[in-house]
Amino acid sequence: MGRTLGFFSILVLLILIISASSSDDQRFTTDKIHFWFNGDGEQEQERAGGLSDEADSILMLERGGVARVPVNVHSFGAVGDGVADDTMAFRNAWYKACSLKNAVLLVPERHRYKVNATNFRGPCQRHLIVQVKGTIVAPDDPKDWDPKYPSTWLSFSNLNGVRFQGGGVIDGSGSKWWAASCKIDRTNPCKEAPTALTIDSSTKIRVKGLTIQFAQQMHFVIYRSDVVRVSGVRILAPKDSPNTDGIHIGESTDVAIQNCHIGTGDDCVSIVNASSNIKMKKIMCGPGHGISIGSLGKDKSTGIVTGVVLDTATISGTKNGLRIKTWQGGSGYVKSVRFENVKMNDVENPIIIDQFYCDSPATCKNQTSAVKISQVIFRNINGTSRTPHAMKFACSDTVPCSNIVLNNINLETENGTAKTFCNCAMGFHYGIVQPTADCLKSSSCGGIQEDAQRQTHDPTHTEL
Ligand SMILES: *[C@@H]1O[C@H](CO)[C@@H](O)[C@H](O)[C@H]1NC(C)=O
Ligand SMILES: *[C@@H]1O[C@H](CO)[C@@H](O)[C@H](O)[C@H]1NC(C)=O
Ligand SMILES: *[C@@H]1O[C@H](CO)[C@@H](O)[C@H](O)[C@H]1NC(C)=O
Ligand SMILES: *[C@@H]1O[C@H](CO)[C@@H](O)[C@H](O)[C@H]1NC(C)=O
Ligand SMILES: *[C@@H]1O[C@H](CO)[C@@H](O)[C@H](O)[C@H]1NC(C)=O
Repeated sequence: MGRTLGFFSILVLLILIISASSSDDQRFTTDKIHFWFNGDGEQEQERAGGLSDEADSILMLERGGVARVPVNVHSFGAVGDGVADDTMAFRNAWYKACSLKNAVLLVPERHRYKVNATNFRGPCQRHLIVQVKGTIVAPDDPKDWDPKYPSTWLSFSNLNGVRFQGGGVIDGSGSKWWAASCKIDRTNPCKEAPTALTIDSSTKIRVKGLTIQFAQQMHFVIYRSDVVRVSGVRILAPKDSPNTDGIHIGESTDVAIQNCHIGTGDDCVSIVNASSNIKMKKIMCGPGHGISIGSLGKDKSTGIVTGVVLDTATISGTKNGLRIKTWQGGSGYVKSVRFENVKMNDVENPIIIDQFYCDSPATCKNQTSAVKISQVIFRNINGTSRTPHAMKFACSDTVPCSNIVLNNINLETENGTAKTFCNCAMGFHYGIVQPTADCLKSSSCGGIQEDAQRQTHDPTHTEL
């Protein structure tokens, strides 16, 4: 009788978790992706795939009978030789394009435009397209950086219904910033560095087919925005470049990232406070630190993230694979998360929930409050772990993780030592789960457990 009841409660829980996270699936269908392009009564058809860039721009100008108004940065004095300062040309071209309905801000191919930190502000007239075909490059010396923009390079704010496209490159020229980072040169004070591309306080934004590389710090931040579609974006930086997150999402809802290839020195994707309904599909990640929710709860702050789905990813050569990271002493919660259909290649910590996250030179003390983590499902996850820590659930003694679900997992190390480590993690597994994860059920606290066998092992996880 007890067993049957237990079985049914597990079944009900499973259904709850799967349905909570799969409501996002509907939102990700093409209908939803298309609806806002056609908004405001104008029936612009999304073009069929497979067209060349040239065909693309011709169609763009004529499609649906909408007369597009090109605004070329060269008409505003841009030189595009990679040396001249094209900042004013870009600012003036933006001002013009933003003021016209159906404008296309054109950044032509085969040129490099050096542009200083700028906030490209809206609101703009309807249907603005930013067509980047060439390369936009940042001045490379941190000493000359305009102190008015400590944390952004190209920032776009207060926009509604804008598309960024064109197959061009946004290049932060970040190497001098990396060398000056306190994580590389410990004699330097820890200072923030600019994000290459920021979308802030905006809605209905599409970013398609751009390359963002060598950012000073983060590559692409989506902040205080909703209904954002990112597809076919490539992000790259060396694996030792500090804090160069690929896509960082904060205070945003209804964000979809699809068909992106991200390899940097930090998280491929990081999702932080006040974000919900985030969907990632077909992601190639690595090198870097994997796909992360968090960090959350730093300096006793509140962190809330709900409704995250990752479906179909390959994660290669990274420090972590799928991670939720929270600092001791925070509050709030992470809830309703699904990671599925993921291939791991030589990942140090393929699956990790870490409520002892501590990315600071000083060690972090254990505290009683923590960001609560619940309803997290990992399923259909295969591949290789570089360390025995194939799965690690290091949860707080006072705010344990609950309803962690594992299904159909097969993670191996070269020498067959893959293990599951748990502290205060409650949940269950079904189907094939390798390495075994019985420590999930036993939910013991007060020291990390390895495969349900007691071990003294400090779960504190330090990342510098
Ligand atoms: C851009 O930055 C450089 C320093 O790197 C400075 O000399 C120049 O005046 C700036 N341009 C504008 C338009 O502010
Ligand atoms: C996180 O977001 C909530 C609102 O959802 C806000 O109250 C809180 O201050 C935010 N925390 C931080 C650290 O910004
Ligand atoms: C994992 O491996 C199984 C068989 O070994 C396979 O059927 C499944 O498609 C694999 N899943 C992923 C995400 O690679
Ligand atoms: C197995 O390999 C891992 C690294 O992949 C290493 O940390 C561990 O010590 C090895 N264990 C044995 C028993 O050789
Ligand atoms: C913090 O808590 C964990 C889990 O109970 C324990 O293993 C670890 O020793 C504690 N660390 C410190 C510094 O007290």
